[in-house]
Amino acid sequence: MDADTEISLARPSDALALAEMSRDLIEVGLGWSWKPSRILAMIEHPESVVLMARTRLEIAGFAIMEFHEEHAHLNLLAVKPHQQRKGVGKALLEWLATSARVGGIARIELEVRADNGEAISFYESIDFRRDKVLKGYYQGKRDALRMVRHLMTPEMAAQRP
Ligand SMILES: CC(C)(COP(=O)(O)OP(=O)(O)OC[C@H]1O[C@@H](n2cnc3c(N)ncnc32)[C@H](O)[C@@H]1OP(=O)(O)O)[C@@H](O)C(=O)NCCC(=O)NCCS
Repeated sequence: MDADTEISLARPSDALALAEMSRDLIEVGLGWSWKPSRILAMIEHPESVVLMARTRLEIAGFAIMEFHEEHAHLNLLAVKPHQQRKGVGKALLEWLATSARVGGIARIELEVRADNGEAISFYESIDFRRDKVLKGYYQGKRDALRMVRHLMTPEMAAQRP
């Protein structure tokens, strides 16, 4: 990451910029479902985290994760093209994985377009494993690949209260 890149929680005033990043970098060809109001709801929701990587000049990337009882679900992740391959995506995910582990979460799940080989390689590089293909997951049109990263050994997960 560039030296001036910092990881911090999103503020309500960031919702529009993050929604535009989702539209332009993630939801291309699918229709825009992560509108500003939906991102704002995530920023304000106590069981979700909207995390950003900011430089002095711009938002380099962001991630949204929802925390459930046993698992967390990564809803969105994007890094601006000119900021990619600098470790921004990995830094966002490691921040989220560390908080999930501290919160006693056993695993992180996500869905990624099955044809998004670059993102799948990225997730595999940070210990996500291919779980299953979900046919027609995106509006009945495109398949998704579910990926999972275990944060606990099976023995640790079995001992959760
Ligand atoms: C996927 C994405 C978030 C990765 O973010 P990033 O900041 O570029 O990733 P990092 O720099 O942290 O990469 C860490 C490692 O992941 C792997 N990786 C990252 N991008 C990759 C690519 N395009 N092809 C193959 N491997 C890749 C590499 O092993 C990389 O380490 P290296 O650069 O030392 O080789 C980014 O490419 C992106 O925003 N893509 C568009 C939106 C998207 O597809 N989001 C995910 C689906 S919701």
